[in-house]
Amino acid sequence: MNKNNDWKIIYEDYIPEHEPLREALFTLGNGYIATRAAAEESKAENDHYPGTYLAGGYNRAKSEVSGRIVENEDLVNWPNWLSLTFKHDGGSWFLLDDVEVLHYRHELDLYKGIMKRTIKFREEDGRETSLIARRFVNMKNPHFAGIQWEITPENWSGKIQIRSALDGTVTNSGVPRYRDLTSVHLQPLEIGSFNEESIYLRVQANQSKLRMVQAARTRAFRDGEELPVNRRFFKKVGYVAHLFDLDCDENESVKIEKIVAIYSSKDRAITEPVLEAKNSLYDAGSFDELAEAHAHAWSELWYRCDIDLKDGNNTQLILRLHIFHILQTASQNTIGLDVGIPARGWHGEAYRGHIFWDELFVFPFLNFQLPELARSLLMYRYHRLPAAKRAARLAGFRGAMFPWQSGSNGREESQVVHLNPKSGKWDPDNTYLQRHVGIAIAYNIYQYYEATRDIEFLMAYGAEMMLEIARFWSSLSFFNKDRGRYEIHNVVGPDEFHTEYPDSDQPGLNNNAYTNVMAVWVLRTALDFVELLSDTRKKELFTDLKIDEDEITRWDEISRNMFVPFMDNGIISQFEGYENLEDLDFEKYRGKYGDIQRLDRILKAEGDSPNRYKVSKQADVLMLFFLLSSDEIENLFNRLGYTFDRSIIPDTVNYYIQRSSHGSTLSRLVYSWVFSRSDREESYQVFKESLISDFEDIQGGTTAEGIHLGAMAGTVDMVQRCYTGLEIRGGILWLNPRLPKEMKGFNMRIRYRGHWIWLHFTQHKVEVSFESGHSPQIEIGVIDKVYELGQGDCKKFLL
Ligand code: BGC
Repeated sequence: MNKNNDWKIIYEDYIPEHEPLREALFTLGNGYIATRAAAEESKAENDHYPGTYLAGGYNRAKSEVSGRIVENEDLVNWPNWLSLTFKHDGGSWFLLDDVEVLHYRHELDLYKGIMKRTIKFREEDGRETSLIARRFVNMKNPHFAGIQWEITPENWSGKIQIRSALDGTVTNSGVPRYRDLTSVHLQPLEIGSFNEESIYLRVQANQSKLRMVQAARTRAFRDGEELPVNRRFFKKVGYVAHLFDLDCDENESVKIEKIVAIYSSKDRAITEPVLEAKNSLYDAGSFDELAEAHAHAWSELWYRCDIDLKDGNNTQLILRLHIFHILQTASQNTIGLDVGIPARGWHGEAYRGHIFWDELFVFPFLNFQLPELARSLLMYRYHRLPAAKRAARLAGFRGAMFPWQSGSNGREESQVVHLNPKSGKWDPDNTYLQRHVGIAIAYNIYQYYEATRDIEFLMAYGAEMMLEIARFWSSLSFFNKDRGRYEIHNVVGPDEFHTEYPDSDQPGLNNNAYTNVMAVWVLRTALDFVELLSDTRKKELFTDLKIDEDEITRWDEISRNMFVPFMDNGIISQFEGYENLEDLDFEKYRGKYGDIQRLDRILKAEGDSPNRYKVSKQADVLMLFFLLSSDEIENLFNRLGYTFDRSIIPDTVNYYIQRSSHGSTLSRLVYSWVFSRSDREESYQVFKESLISDFEDIQGGTTAEGIHLGAMAGTVDMVQRCYTGLEIRGGILWLNPRLPKEMKGFNMRIRYRGHWIWLHFTQHKVEVSFESGHSPQIEIGVIDKVYELGQGDCKKFLL
């Protein structure tokens, strides 16, 4: 593996206005904590925002919006542990924005998980200095993070003062749209020092009472020898620092090492965070030692999770960046933490760190690479099953109604009003009606089970969630006598541009095709799960959940008689009445506004509404083709008594793609997937657009507020499952590769039902190597033939 070329992202210029994007893209995390790539010397001002987020570290706060009180739950921005800077005797503290930058290189080594800045700068008085800053957020021991600064005076000698701080005076102010909302979440509790070389800060989130302790040990070295320094302790409310002087000589480097230990009151196996931080720092090795263990942990992750494209271009690099961010959001350190997969990573404050349906796009990767982690993430939902049942009950339904946006305790966290930056007005937000989030959870449970055959999980937790979700869909469905079919009303589909009918004063739409068909899928899968349960477990669950044969019969009945809306042209209608909406003149809007991805905001700012038009933010009907194979769709439609003509698929795709503004990064991904079999060139084109959506921030500013994890993971999945035709069908792992012509080939490993399988694809060949496993044989299907593979077998298939 060449670890130098396809593993490093390098920027060779310092452009202050690009910093917000780079801070998000170079965020370092370990599945427990994440910190944006803000420069150590910077603070939250101008183009800098040094945010630190704890996985699942939420807090609620009330704000007044347009005369009403709203309560939001936010992912808290915890104290800034990065804070490190220097100054000359009598000078001011170093800030990159205040000096002349002579050389700049900012790089992220994805293989080792190390960020590095190499800078040469000149100060007003002519002093030139080189600075090499390295940083990690430890993947091996998630409680450690470290910074190393190497300062070299190029043309001066003299005394400098170092300041190494923990700054708890930070607020949540990373998203301009939220700035009118309450942003203070932290309450300082305690400041202190453990010994001569370490300081600590203890804070508490003011509502959730979640506590965090950060402790920092700062040392100085010359030629590998530790320098004796005289540290001065400085504190003010919520802020603590160590300051010390160093004598510098021209051309002689000094190194500063800041090792930080971070603990929270939610941690496992602790007595109390301050004591744990103290003990950890006491034992902590040097920056290099910790960095080595950290890089080793990363190399193990890469061994499992890399997709080695062997073509050394940007696709390889960005794909690795996407895998890197998935693993920084959730890794082995996340297992058992009671957290879910946030839509924007733990990388910024957009969407407040909430958990949406986006995990649907992340699970396929985790199921095949880190199934033990996928299981833990499903448990996040299981622990919130009581909250989902309560929500259903309060809304007058049965079963489990999972929230569209989920945070700490499973309450619905969606906003009721949302600021439209185009108009400056707070618009009502009815996207919470996306009940289809429960479908995503059910689908993830099913996919996890298929990839792992983890029957213990299914029996203990998975089946219960599936049954409660099925029960919810059953309770939402009602029989329309005139039509002789079941219907589902008052929901919103994945396309968030449509939340109600034009001229209606009630939110919600009727018979969203994606929701109706997938509700049928859930009901049918729940019935299959019942068959999988042992008699004892079935009895237990049926008794506990009070499920009787009548209810099972109703599920079966709905799953055979659900209504699906079609338009006159035979294309599945996004929802009932969609065909009556007006067509929008896309060209007119493009001409007027240029970027029309967020047509909803544009139309609303004009006093109009996207609800009136056939325009979509993202794939809705097409999600069906994304999640289900055409065989599965045909089966479901046959079950419903509809004829499904496969030849309508390309027309359906074209119909909706022409009407999409791609206002969500999830949109292109789905289009790229559904094109993959019919038009590989188009698919690859759209895949490439999807690939750069965060890297080049094609939405114009949203990435800076947090990466789009669903889109990132989705591009990885395009390679892992879509272009390889990897699917589990009938208990067999099928491969049916059709690589885009631009892809010469690639290698990857997958974990499948306890086996590690190494796969190598080229345009004309697939190689399957059965590396190790726990059961004697597995069945692998290649195109249309099934083969048995056992330990040590390696087979090549020509395509
Ligand atoms: C999309 C949703 C998505 C959410 C969080 C929205 O813009 O429309 O589908 O779940 O972002 O990523």
